[in-house]
Amino acid sequence: MAEDLSIQKGTKQEQYESLIPQIEALLYGETNLIANLANISAALKEQFNWWWVGFYWVEQDELVLGPFQGPVACTRIKKGRGVCGGSWEKGTTLIVADVEKFPGHIACSSASKSEIVVPVYHKGNIVGVLDVDSEHLAQFDETDKLYLEQIVGLIPNI
Ligand code: SME
Repeated sequence: MAEDLSIQKGTKQEQYESLIPQIEALLYGETNLIANLANISAALKEQFNWWWVGFYWVEQDELVLGPFQGPVACTRIKKGRGVCGGSWEKGTTLIVADVEKFPGHIACSSASKSEIVVPVYHKGNIVGVLDVDSEHLAQFDETDKLYLEQIVGLIPNI
């Protein structure tokens, strides 16, 4: 496909429904993991204009910063630490409406107010997480969970 994203206006659901086939097309035939994680981050950032969107990838007992869009971020997060490490430890998506009320939240950026972290599974194991931060409170809900879990399920060649 052409490397141009068609940006959809409308409800969050309509935006995801338009974006997902475009992400599938971007991933189609590409086996390089870094390239694919980079394009997923860029596509989400372009459609939703979130503050920060990107991946942390599992390396031994830590998450290490991977492809992302947004301001510079902390590079290593221990299992169980912050929202990312918590999602990894619990094995589930975490939605945080107000990061200041999340014990242990890691403030990579003081502008970040709410967050969603989605684990990436491969053959039953978590291999990384998708982290999305917003500069607005309570930006993420079950709709984001549903679609972002679908999106990380599209990643080939993990
Ligand atoms: N806030 C995250 C750390 C990653 S940055 O937001 C990019 C956390 O608490 O896990």
